[in-house]
Amino acid sequence: RLVSMTDMLNKAKEGQYAVGQFNINNLEWTQAVLTAAQENNSPVILGVSEGAGKYMGGPTVVAAMVTALLDSMDITVPVALHLDHGSSFASCKEAIDAGYSSVMIDGSHSPIDENIEITKEVVAYAHERGASVEAEVGTVGGEEDGVIGGVQYADLEECKRMVSEADIDALAAALGSVHGTYDGEPQLGFEEMAAISEATGAPLVLHGGSGIPEHQVKMAIERGHAKINVNTELQQQWTAAVREKLNTDDKVYDPRKVIKPGFDAIVKTTKETMDMFGSSNQA
Ligand code: G3H
Ligand code: ZN
Repeated sequence: RLVSMTDMLNKAKEGQYAVGQFNINNLEWTQAVLTAAQENNSPVILGVSEGAGKYMGGPTVVAAMVTALLDSMDITVPVALHLDHGSSFASCKEAIDAGYSSVMIDGSHSPIDENIEITKEVVAYAHERGASVEAEVGTVGGEEDGVIGGVQYADLEECKRMVSEADIDALAAALGSVHGTYDGEPQLGFEEMAAISEATGAPLVLHGGSGIPEHQVKMAIERGHAKINVNTELQQQWTAAVREKLNTDDKVYDPRKVIKPGFDAIVKTTKETMDMFGSSNQA
């Protein structure tokens, strides 16, 4: 019942809204994001980094958990299960074989020819199995899974080549967004964004969605973004809620009660974010 991102992103681009990719970390996290999507009648992309996938027991466990939840929770909105920042062909293949409906191949740290080459291999494997593929050009800065990197703006010609040569379904063109927190307002390259959207026609993906103010989100959507990734924001809200619970209730010891406020915080934040992205009631 999982679907690829292709239809949801094309619809979103057409309708001028963005589908959120919300990264998951465990069972309750997944239940919370799915609850938000169903209650808001919104399409949703569950993002799983290689690290988070490993943490949850590997892609087979993740795919089995997600597909079982779609049934047990009676989820009717479109849901994609997406490998976030796949680092190799083998990693993407493993995710697709396990049942993921979408993958990102992040070849952004290689020279463009190599990046396109590896992306093409992933696209060939994925498309044959009905899965969608996101590629990255330029580099998103900041910290993710303990790896810290600098920002490098996507080059227009390289973006054009990536889309036409590799036949990808979504393009993460790095234009100043960073993973993790921002010091002040993000400085996004809106002109470059418009040019890349215009020249490639591909649905664009905005990484580092946490902490981008609403007016900038709107500008990014107007300039071709159909998918926005959010991870840090949910982690912060979850932790704040659980910390508050532990600080204010020194009798609690049932783990289910300890983390229940974290669940509620994720549902609330995810629903608000879907409203901001415009994906609510677009399922
Ligand atoms: O790929 C995941 C994202 O780009 C998340 O970034 O943690 O800054 O929200 P974020
Ligand atoms: Zn990212």
